[in-house]
Amino acid sequence: MIDIVNFFKSAFQSDNNKSVLGIDIGPSSIKVVQLKRRKGRAILETYGELSLGPYAGVEIGRATNLTTEQTAQAVVDVLRESNVTTNKCGISIPMGSSLVSFIKLPKTDPKQLAQMIPLEARKYIPVPISEVSLDYLVIPRNENIVSEYQNSEEKPDDKTIDVLLVVIHNDAMAKNKEITQIAKLDTQFSEIEIFSSMRSVLEPGTAPQMIIDFGSGSTKVYIIEKGILRTSHMISRGSQDITLAISKSLGIKVEEAEKIKRERGLLKKENESMDINEITSLTLDYIFSEISRVLLNYQKKTGRNISKIFLTGGGVLLKGLREKAEASFSVPVALADPFSKLEYPAFLENVLKQAGPSFAVAIGLALRRLQDMG
Ligand SMILES: Nc1ncnc2c1ncn2[C@@H]1O[C@H](COP(=O)(O)OP(=O)(O)OP(=O)(O)O)[C@@H](O)[C@H]1O
Ligand SMILES: [Mg+2]
Repeated sequence: MIDIVNFFKSAFQSDNNKSVLGIDIGPSSIKVVQLKRRKGRAILETYGELSLGPYAGVEIGRATNLTTEQTAQAVVDVLRESNVTTNKCGISIPMGSSLVSFIKLPKTDPKQLAQMIPLEARKYIPVPISEVSLDYLVIPRNENIVSEYQNSEEKPDDKTIDVLLVVIHNDAMAKNKEITQIAKLDTQFSEIEIFSSMRSVLEPGTAPQMIIDFGSGSTKVYIIEKGILRTSHMISRGSQDITLAISKSLGIKVEEAEKIKRERGLLKKENESMDINEITSLTLDYIFSEISRVLLNYQKKTGRNISKIFLTGGGVLLKGLREKAEASFSVPVALADPFSKLEYPAFLENVLKQAGPSFAVAIGLALRRLQDMG
């Protein structure tokens, strides 16, 4: 399944030097977005999505575990089929290959801190330090963090600093490097997926916002406040679990179940012996109760309410999901609309609104690469 919009040839004469790419490699599909800058605005040139199921001999919509070579081949294919014209890109790192945590350290100068971080990080990482890459951010004191990792009773003091520690498994970096080589890309950076989505999805403001990424095999939940990631959780159930439940309950092929899921979603149908809504809700109820725990926990710890929830990932395209989420969480819920950060021809409005949630990561990556080009 590929979704290509190839309007740039006629609409804008593409200047390859100024175009950039975001490549989001998920377990069920790859999404790519090509942008360029014109008069300070980010312009959409082309985008595309390619399902990975067929590369692994499984149904579309299911999570795969491809080799690096297979993944690289799929990247080459999606770039070709989407008529991408540049190789300058940023690539995503899945949340599952990373670890984000908050640590409190004694206040010290930046040089000493750089030495201290790897030593401290050992305490938090379940694998040898040689197998990971580290990054960190000192949280500005006036935005002192209160997160689940800290005791809210602890008052900030002058002797300590709060550090957001980001750890990426080297395997993920090596995989991106290999894909870069095979697909002849010019990759400037790899970025953990949530940092890309934050750039393309969030609204300005200081109140806490939540991003839910409902993917194929897992659902990821994040809370961001004042531009800083405060918590991240991964729930090991995703949209493919709905498909598998429908397939099992109705005794039909997975392929057929996937079709029913996408067509029907949570919409009710009269006089049906087997209620698809009920089957779908079983999976969703579990995921929603986990999300509720994250939400309530944060509100309790910080005393601040989540102001808005943004839905990203292909799974949120399920009909009726936004409404169900809003009713469950009693917080305004919106489908992410990252294309709204870009300029595009008006006739694409509806298509892009529909595709938006799936492309949050890819657009965020491309926007960063565009920024980096100055
Ligand atoms: N119209 C639709 N209605 C319901 N579900 C859909 C629809 N379109 C796609 N999906 C589901 O979305 C899922 C894929 O989502 P997405 O592409 O965000 O996952 P991913 O990025 O590969 O995985 P990850 O969870 O690791 O981010 C699939 O399970 C698919 O069945
Ligand atoms: Mg994804």
